[in-house]
Amino acid sequence: MTNSKKRIFSGVQPTGNLHLGNYLGAIRAWVDMQHQYESLFCIVDLHAITVAQDPAKLRTAIRETTAAYIACGIDPVKNIIFPQSAVAEHSELAWILSCNTPIGWLNRMTQFKDKAGKDREKAPLGLYSYPVLMAADILLYKTTHVPVGEDQKQHIELARDIAGAFNRNFNAEYFPLPEPVIRAEAARIMSLRDGTKKMSKSDESDYSRINLTDDVTTIALKFRKAKSDMIDGMDFDESRPESKNLLGIYVALKGISKEQALHECGELNFSAFKNLITEVAVEHLSPITQKMRELLAEPDYLDKILQDGSNRAKEIATKTMSDVKNLVGFLQV
Ligand code: AMP
Ligand code: TRP
Repeated sequence: MTNSKKRIFSGVQPTGNLHLGNYLGAIRAWVDMQHQYESLFCIVDLHAITVAQDPAKLRTAIRETTAAYIACGIDPVKNIIFPQSAVAEHSELAWILSCNTPIGWLNRMTQFKDKAGKDREKAPLGLYSYPVLMAADILLYKTTHVPVGEDQKQHIELARDIAGAFNRNFNAEYFPLPEPVIRAEAARIMSLRDGTKKMSKSDESDYSRINLTDDVTTIALKFRKAKSDMIDGMDFDESRPESKNLLGIYVALKGISKEQALHECGELNFSAFKNLITEVAVEHLSPITQKMRELLAEPDYLDKILQDGSNRAKEIATKTMSDVKNLVGFLQV
């Protein structure tokens, strides 16, 4: 039964290379939560363009991300799946929120510091104000719960602060303060080439990640080439980041405890464990890959889902914007 007081919003950027970290860190939690809460799953294309994108590739990636959501088990009838740019209210609310967000709060955002690089003066304004747009995504639907990976925690805390600032500035208990939902066991899946670096879409080495579109041979090859150490056995020790990461992936894929994983694999050497994890990953991911391929062969079907989702999202968004405009003091003529 849907709990009507709670609402989920989350999203992934359509920037290609959807990977195991996106799946275990975010999408799988959505799949588990979708029946308990009213849920909106967004393809955040406005966020994607904070970094230059090729228009043709962006279009493809939007459909690919949609297909991935459905292939991973998100029900497009029960839930709202839509592209962010189709609901103009995201940008509209972002502007109003930006007028209620002190610059000092944005200056603390670590993702901006990482992404902007050394020459910050040349970074686009959108990359800097990205967290305000993200707050708008969340607050537009008066979201209560936001399931994400660990790297997004700071942005959700900012969204809470912005909601509080808006409520205070307009003397209204209007926006609920959204809660991050972060699963400990898959909060941060690391690169297969370096256990101290996050698995990421933008890593130049494709061997660093398992993509949701990888076939069996590629998955096996990537695990075989994954960085390992010379120590016997597998464990979760901080001093062995690669062992810790691969065992963590095993735990998350199988849905078992760390103790159980140590019991099953603690005695294996790295290469035997790599064979085992390949088997588990392939078993888990093959149906998803297969389903994604089928869905991508039907772009009209995907577009219809996005259109339907946009209409449903817009209905909620229009109501919020009308309330917000009223609170701010705009005439709605
Ligand atoms: P992004 O790829 O930045 O659009 O992220 C989409 C979602 O996946 C967000 O909820 C992220 O927190 C999550 N995510 C991305 N990379 C990882 C990772 N390596 N481990 C766990 N979660 C991740
Ligand atoms: N910034 C998030 C990421 O890169 C994606 C995102 C945009 C998001 N808006 C959101 C996630 C709102 C949760 C809620 O992963």
